[in-house]
Amino acid sequence: MTPLPGQSGSVPAAVSDAVPDTRRRSTDAAWDPRQYAVFSGHRGRPFADLLARVDADAPGLVVDLGCGPGELTLGLAERWPDARIIGVDSSPEMLDRARELDVSGRVEWVEASAEDWDPTECGASIDVLVTNATLQWVPGHLRLIPAWVASLAPGGIFAMQVPSNFDAPSHRLMREVAGRQPRAADLRPGLDRARAVARPETYAALLLDLTPEVDVWQTTYQHVLAAVPDGPHPVLEWVRGTGLRPVLGVLEADERERFVRDYERELDTAYPRRSFGVLFPFTRTFAVARTPR
Ligand SMILES: C[S@@+](CC[C@H](N)C(=O)[O-])C[C@H]1O[C@@H](n2cnc3c(N)ncnc32)[C@H](O)[C@@H]1O
Repeated sequence: MTPLPGQSGSVPAAVSDAVPDTRRRSTDAAWDPRQYAVFSGHRGRPFADLLARVDADAPGLVVDLGCGPGELTLGLAERWPDARIIGVDSSPEMLDRARELDVSGRVEWVEASAEDWDPTECGASIDVLVTNATLQWVPGHLRLIPAWVASLAPGGIFAMQVPSNFDAPSHRLMREVAGRQPRAADLRPGLDRARAVARPETYAALLLDLTPEVDVWQTTYQHVLAAVPDGPHPVLEWVRGTGLRPVLGVLEADERERFVRDYERELDTAYPRRSFGVLFPFTRTFAVARTPR
């Protein structure tokens, strides 16, 4: 398989707070492609593991739902040079970055939420529908999956990966620290959204009701994150690009500073800095389903 971008482990230097943007929903910080890219090597690995189980030689139409900043979508274009590739995402910031990276205009980038995206608008049945690290942000996705599978061509493949780390210290501590804030009630809805992820057996049963060829599994990655003694805790930097956004988007600057200080102190205990860096175990759930040929 062609190596996918993001597997190199390269770490861009730019690290910034989420950039406020008027286009965002009121409870969310905008996605910041630079912050998200900080751990692109680690984040690319599950995508590669998912795609390794997608057995498709020459798909005509490939969709990446929740394509983010597009690096991994461009990897799909490399793997299937003759395929039409569509990247769908609800974040204008992520799509702006994707268009920048796609210098040859290889991919069709579509701004739409997963909830509103209509697969029939592609104008053809889909051969491979990939959705990586996105459905945790789509609370109703169990109800949407049947329509996505129905939009596949005969022998088409649906491939998804979601983080299953709601009970990991990174997320439990985020909720605990949020619960101690004066505006705890304002923070709860954004944090609760991670509950959208179902158990592996739920995805397996849902997909097996739709098609007999289904493969569901979980992997716990032991990410080793580089850590500087007095620098920001790397798990904080990781979640800043994803799960912490709903918190950062709600808080004012001084509240945000206080929250981050408390949370980082907890992270330092839960994920100690060692000679080799910080060990960050991360469980993810994968599902691949193929429709009958
Ligand atoms: C963690 S990133 C994953 C990006 C890319 N798939 C990857 O693996 O690097 C999650 C992406 O989901 C997108 N997203 C979140 N909620 C969404 C929704 N309801 N509909 C479509 N995209 C959504 C975000 O804008 C973001 O780009």
